[in-house]
Parts: sequence; C-alpha cells; structure tokens
Amino acid sequence: MSLSLKLSIADLSSSTAPSLVVVVDDALTLGKATCGLFPSLQALIKRVAETEKFKGKAQSSITILGDSESRLERIIVLGTGAAAERGKLNWLNLGGGLLSKLPNGSDVDIIFEDENFSPANIADFALGLQLKAYNFEQYKTKKKEADVSEGLPSSISLMSSDKNAVRKAWKQREPVAEGVNLARTLVNEPPNILYPVEFANRAGKLEKLGVEIEELDEKQLKKLGMKALLGVGQGSTKDSRVVIMRWNGSSDAKAQPIAFVGKGVTFDTGGISIKPSASMEDMKGDMGGAACVVGLMHSLSSRKAKVNAIGIIGLVENMPDGNAIRPGDILTSMSGQTIEIINTDAEGRLVLADILHHVNTEFKPKFIVDLATLTGAILVALGQEYAGMFSNNDELCERLTKIGETTGEKVWRMPLCPAFDKMIDSRFADMKNTGGRFAGSSTAAHFLQRFIGETPWIHLDVAGTAMASPNTDTNRSWGSGWGVRLLNQLVADYYED
Ligand code: BES
Ligand code: MN
Ligand code: ZN
Repeated sequence: MSLSLKLSIADLSSSTAPSLVVVVDDALTLGKATCGLFPSLQALIKRVAETEKFKGKAQSSITILGDSESRLERIIVLGTGAAAERGKLNWLNLGGGLLSKLPNGSDVDIIFEDENFSPANIADFALGLQLKAYNFEQYKTKKKEADVSEGLPSSISLMSSDKNAVRKAWKQREPVAEGVNLARTLVNEPPNILYPVEFANRAGKLEKLGVEIEELDEKQLKKLGMKALLGVGQGSTKDSRVVIMRWNGSSDAKAQPIAFVGKGVTFDTGGISIKPSASMEDMKGDMGGAACVVGLMHSLSSRKAKVNAIGIIGLVENMPDGNAIRPGDILTSMSGQTIEIINTDAEGRLVLADILHHVNTEFKPKFIVDLATLTGAILVALGQEYAGMFSNNDELCERLTKIGETTGEKVWRMPLCPAFDKMIDSRFADMKNTGGRFAGSSTAAHFLQRFIGETPWIHLDVAGTAMASPNTDTNRSWGSGWGVRLLNQLVADYYED
C-alpha cells in the first residue's frame, strides 16, 4: 500500500527545501538547533509576530516570504498553543490543518524542536498530514489546474534531532494511516466496480501481510445455513461472499481471539421495498462497516500487533428482482431462528445475523465489535458527529468512549431494553426484521443481539460517520475510514500481549 504524500523523517541539520515550516509553541522561542541553522530566524519571527499579532495559538500561522537574498522562498510559522492545552487529537489536527497552507508541488521541511515536542507528538502530526492528504481521484481523467487546496507538496521532510525516535513512533502509525486510507478507498469506489466478489478480492490482498484468508462462496454459505445473508443477495446478479480474516499475532497461538464484524452491502437499493431515488447513489457506501474491518486488519497485521484477531465481513448486493426476497417471506437464519421480512430495506441486520452467529460459535471470541451503516435513524439522533454504540458490556463501552475522544471518532451509547426487544417479536416467526418507526436504531441493535448470546459485544451504527463525511482537519474524503484508528487503539491499549 502506498500513501499519497511523500513523507520522510530527517535530521534537523539537513534542511535544504525552499519552503520551511517552523513549529512553535506560545512562547515563540526556537531551540538551539534551529537557531544554529538559521541564526537570524528567531529575531525575524519575534518581529513579524509582533506586527501581525501572532501569539502561537493552536493552528494559527504566519507566512513570511523570503527576499531575493534568502535561500528560502517562504517560512511558515505554525503555532501549537500552550503545552497544557495540547492533546493527541490536537497533534493530528495540527498536521492535517497545515496541509492546505503548504505550497502545491514544492518540497517542504518542517522543523520541530525536541525540547518542546516529543517523538510521539511529531509522529501524530505526520499521521494527521497523511490522513488529510488522501483524496480519491482515480476516476478523474482530466487533471485540474493546480489548486493549493487540492494539490500536495511534492515532498515533506519532518526534521528532528531525535530522528530515530520519531521514525520508531511513525512505524507504529504508518500502518494505521494505510488502514484508514484503504477503508476510505473501499467506501469511495463505485458499486459497479466494487461488488461482493471484487470486495472479497481486495480483502484477500491482506494475505501478503500474513493474514489468513478464508473466502466462502454461495455454495459454502448455503452449506453453513446462512440463509438470512443469502436471502439479501438473491435478487442480485452478483454472487454473495463472506470473508474471514485471521491475524494470529499473539505469542500464544491458542490465546482467545477478539472479533470484528462488518456489514458489507456493496449497494443497497432497498430491494422490493425500494428506496426513493434522491441520494440513492450514496448507498454505495453501505459497506462502510466491512471497509473498516478490512482497514483495521491491515493496520493490525502491518504493525504486527501482538493479538489474535478475527475480521469477518458479509458481502452482498441488495437489488429488486423477480428472484428477490419479498415482505412476508420467512427466512431461517444459520442460528435456526426464523425471521419474517417486513421491509427488504432492513437488510443489513439479516447479513449480520448470520456472520455474528458464525463468528461467535466457531471462534468463541473474547468480545465482538460489529460495525454497520445500519439505520437512517442514527443520523436523526446523532448526526455525523457520533456513532451510535449499543452494548451488553459496560467496560468495553467505557474504553471505546475514552479512546474516541482522543482519536476524534466519538461514540455515544444508546439504550437497549426488554421493551425495545419485544418490538421485533413476530406473529409468524421468531422475530421480524423491523420494529416500526420508533426507536429504529435500538430495535435494529436488539435484532443483532439475538444472535450473539452472552458474548461481550458492541454494535456501532456508523450510518452517520462512515460515509458522506464532512471535511475535517484530518479528512477530505467522502468515505471517512471511521473506526480504524479507534479500534486499532482499543487493541493497542488493552488487548496485546
Ligand atoms: N443502509 C441503510 C441505512 C443507511 C441510511 C445508511 C442512510 C447510511 C445512510 C439500511 O439498510 C436501511 O435502509 N435501513 C432502513 C431500516 C428501516 C427499513 C427499518 C432505514 O434506516 O430506513
Ligand atoms: Mn437498507
Ligand atoms: Zn443498508
């Protein structure tokens, strides 16, 4: 996998680029190394800062153009704010936020003084840059006029006198940047290109990183009894697939695995309960959960996380057709529980029902996290700011909530309760696939819960966060790659040897 921005980590003394970024805190003082390299810089910054009223606040900057005698074309002074106000997220945002201020097509050196900033800070800054640099332009055949906000610098060097420590910190983050950008690409790809079999092929590429891949075709799925999942795909001319990815990174090969489950509806028309045409094109992103699981498995395997992790994704296309499932149909899921179809547009839960049951019974994981663009109702409740979190386990919820605040992938816990569960009881089968208009995200979650038994479990409804994403300091892509960093950090903080 390649990242779009050419980034290197070098010694402070090797600065030669025509554009220089100097990162300063609110004291505006440069360290010894920078002053040695650029003897008059400190005085210049202080003088310009005074006239421009630049105080070094987080993400504020001034640009100083070089005169004809100067080797430098420009110096950008970037503020970080006071040390006490800086968290991990600020470093990501500082890096990402800088990108649009950098000259398109130029080489840029960024100087950090180690007296003020740690290797981890600098590596987080680099992660922010790489995340913001990602842009999905594969299908544009005409290059646009160079535009600063669209284009990238031709190369960036991050300069620190503790180069090796920064490289080490970056080595843990580079795989994560790749994982996020992989997930984004899967979400951005058009649905005629990325249908279930092609999605499975892309996931299969993780084999190169040491991930064991098991791809189940329709014949094997039928044999396993995944009739709920197959029911969703039966109106499509595209074959359905399930892919199981196993990363065995723990020193104990037998250590109980953790499991991640993703909804992978490569296009959701709604089926016979067809959706209105306005914005239906957005339903190419209805595989954002599966994309996150693939991106996460990339990141875990590429950084050789010391954990046994399983990723499972259900890949189908939901189409109306003479062979499609109808409202009124009753499907028997792999678990044996029967489902009355009320609305064929509530298809994600049918896909998840079978793969949740399969991963739970086959691998007996320590916990399961599923991600799904499951309900429009979660957008009504939480907008695009928070993913909805539903769970039977307080500890897992606390952990994810805390981590989400540091990565910027925020989660908000939503209620489960017996009254909501009752809303999906069916007159004709064990359950029905919708519970009516009220509490739509919760009844969807209860449907899933009926397939995971007592296993600690978190369901993340990412319909508002995975796709059609607003621009942020670390993202300008339609598919956001939401969840890759969150779950990677959950693993890193709590579940490695
Ligand atoms: N994929 C949709 C949910 C969705 C909506 C994702 C908007 C992203 C953005 C899901 O399959 C769906 O259609 N859900 C229905 C459920 C209803 C029929 C109970 C919905 O939310 O309307
Ligand atoms: Mn749907
Ligand atoms: Zn859907």
